[in-house]
Amino acid sequence: MNVTKKLMDEHQLIIKYISLLELYLTKIKNDRKREDLFVKLGDFVDFIKNYADKYHHAKEENILFKFMEEPGVLTHCNPLPVMLNDHENGRHFIRELLVAIVNHDYAKGLLNAQAWANLLTEHIYKEDNVLYVMAEQGLNDEQKTKINLEYDQIEKQLNGENLEKKYIMLYSLLEEVIKK
Ligand SMILES: [Fe+2]
Ligand SMILES: [Fe+2]
Repeated sequence: MNVTKKLMDEHQLIIKYISLLELYLTKIKNDRKREDLFVKLGDFVDFIKNYADKYHHAKEENILFKFMEEPGVLTHCNPLPVMLNDHENGRHFIRELLVAIVNHDYAKGLLNAQAWANLLTEHIYKEDNVLYVMAEQGLNDEQKTKINLEYDQIEKQLNGENLEKKYIMLYSLLEEVIKK
């Protein structure tokens, strides 16, 4: 039984958005007149808030991490506080980015968007290669069954399938804009 495969798949979409975001940042940095691209950073914020955070991070924080805190799962060290701290720092960068977009503050926007991209790249690496491995090894079948049931509930509540489709579509649109 597996409880991290779906989360790893979600990481792949987040990684795609990070790469695209970095393309946007480079273009904006090189041409300050690209107000159109700067404003589009708001679409990235939409994805980050509603997919990466409310959907993906919520599943980690409210389900997977909660079960990993049960006695006997993590025997050597507990990386969960670091992971939660990463999520919080990410939220801070995104709040700042949003303020920067509203104020047309390019310097602040670029700084916070890049900080978020760097943080999430490292964070995803740590989860894929360390935390999720610990989860698969440490959780027993009973816990994994419960986790998958709770995932299903969230998927239904947030209409995960539609959410996924919506943000794959948004990705294509954002990709087209940058190619112009
Ligand atoms: Fe995470
Ligand atoms: Fe994650």
